[in-house]
Amino acid sequence: MEHQKVLVLDFGGQYNQLIARRVRDLGVFCDLKPCDMTVEEIKAYDPIGIIFTGGPNSVYEESSPHVSKEIFSLGIPVLGICYGCQLTAYTLGGEVTHAITSEYGKREVTLVKESPLLKGIPQKSVCWMSHTDYVSKVPAGFSVLGQTEACPVAIFACEERKIYGVQYHPEVVHSEYGNEILKNFLYEICKAAGDWTMSNFVAEQIEKIRKKVGDKKVLCAMSGGVDSAVAATLIYKAVGSQLTSVFVDHGLLRKYEADEVMSVFRDGLGMNLIKADCGEIFVGKLVGVTDPETKRKIIGEEFIRAFEKEAKKIGAVDYLVQGTIYPDVIESGKGKSAVIKSHHNVGGLPSVVDFKEIIEPLRDLFKDEVRKVGFELGLPRKVVMRQPFPGPGLAIRIMGEVTPEKLETLRDADYIFRDEIAKAGLDEKIWQYFAVITNSPTVGVMGDFRTYENVIALRAVTSVDAMTADWARIPYDVLEKISTRIVNEVKHANRIVYDITSKPPATIEWE
Ligand code: XMP
Repeated sequence: MEHQKVLVLDFGGQYNQLIARRVRDLGVFCDLKPCDMTVEEIKAYDPIGIIFTGGPNSVYEESSPHVSKEIFSLGIPVLGICYGCQLTAYTLGGEVTHAITSEYGKREVTLVKESPLLKGIPQKSVCWMSHTDYVSKVPAGFSVLGQTEACPVAIFACEERKIYGVQYHPEVVHSEYGNEILKNFLYEICKAAGDWTMSNFVAEQIEKIRKKVGDKKVLCAMSGGVDSAVAATLIYKAVGSQLTSVFVDHGLLRKYEADEVMSVFRDGLGMNLIKADCGEIFVGKLVGVTDPETKRKIIGEEFIRAFEKEAKKIGAVDYLVQGTIYPDVIESGKGKSAVIKSHHNVGGLPSVVDFKEIIEPLRDLFKDEVRKVGFELGLPRKVVMRQPFPGPGLAIRIMGEVTPEKLETLRDADYIFRDEIAKAGLDEKIWQYFAVITNSPTVGVMGDFRTYENVIALRAVTSVDAMTADWARIPYDVLEKISTRIVNEVKHANRIVYDITSKPPATIEWE
């Protein structure tokens, strides 16, 4: 059975994906779609409710995104948030005013009228505001439900038509009862059934994949990362030995990583997983290469070559699996941004594999949902909660030329770092943590001898999506242990530094 759907129309605000994730977390499937979707397209999509997101614009600017009045007459409940709230008031004949100063941060919201939208929310609570314009007069037939000191209309509604507006951001954690607002909208107003669960998803997908694949052959590129691991396992559960997976070991992985992948998926699950040992080829291609972008390009191209070689041995297949996830699919509509780093992923594979169709079983899922599916499929915690790891691997964590000796030093240092972070119980609290070898050796003293060895930098960040990040406040005693262990146990390392830069202006990886 198809699940119910909520439509989240994207007006360009910074919290938009968060709104969609919250809705999904509440057990209702939703899609984030560009705000210029037509009324016909909306009708065809057949949502049980529509949410307008926030956005950076002002409703009075001609170039700002607007919506047709007709959307409000479809009989589908609407919730407008921030810009979406102003747009709702403006479109239906209310007034929006430009404030002299913006309101930003925590505010107290006072409820002034009862509503199913506000079920279970106390009369006063904290909300998170971020706006300049505000609704100064509600449209005819609407009433004010809540106010803040600066904002006469913080929440408004027309209960008969099931149209609601909230000026603040219910999706952010700083809005105390924000989740209740979203939950009430979904369950009290849209009458959602709550049919979006990961166990339903797994059951649905397995059936779909079986039907689609029949007795045909499927090929998957496994990287050891969460997305490709979950995608491959899902397909494996559906079609078993009809799936062949290829794992290219480019010799730039972390300590024990390749063995772990083989032991979990081939030995543990029984998957038909082929490991291509290409370490020497990759490291050979990187001799003398110091420019980060050149390194990335070489690794990306070599990866495709390595996969092609294995795919040729397997011969023609019918389907190629890709671990694409929802954030890769969402049309952002924000225009082209500058290339900061050229990411290498499996994007180039379709050109070298003889296949008929791509299967992307995770293309509807956010990362946290992919992880839940991983647990649902019985994958071990260390695979499901694995921190992100870049395609070019340790090559972009060794500044300058990659050499086998530096790879060994880095692997050992990184292993100690990870070990101590796990022992301190921080491994699932920090988004990413790894060691880097800088290319500026320094002088040290060990025993009575002078040393001239590598500086190891430790990088650890907290983040929600890797777009922005802050350096993790690792306790000093943990840092001390890591530093002592690395200089004592790892060859060719005599100094440890901790990176205390946020992103922006720095990036998470050093290259
Ligand atoms: P930066 O360094 O750009 O990294 O702040 C953001 C996130 O992306 C990861 N990263 C990559 N992932 N291929 C990947 O699949 C790549 O080439 C690549 N480069 C960076 C990085 O580890 C962080 O999580």
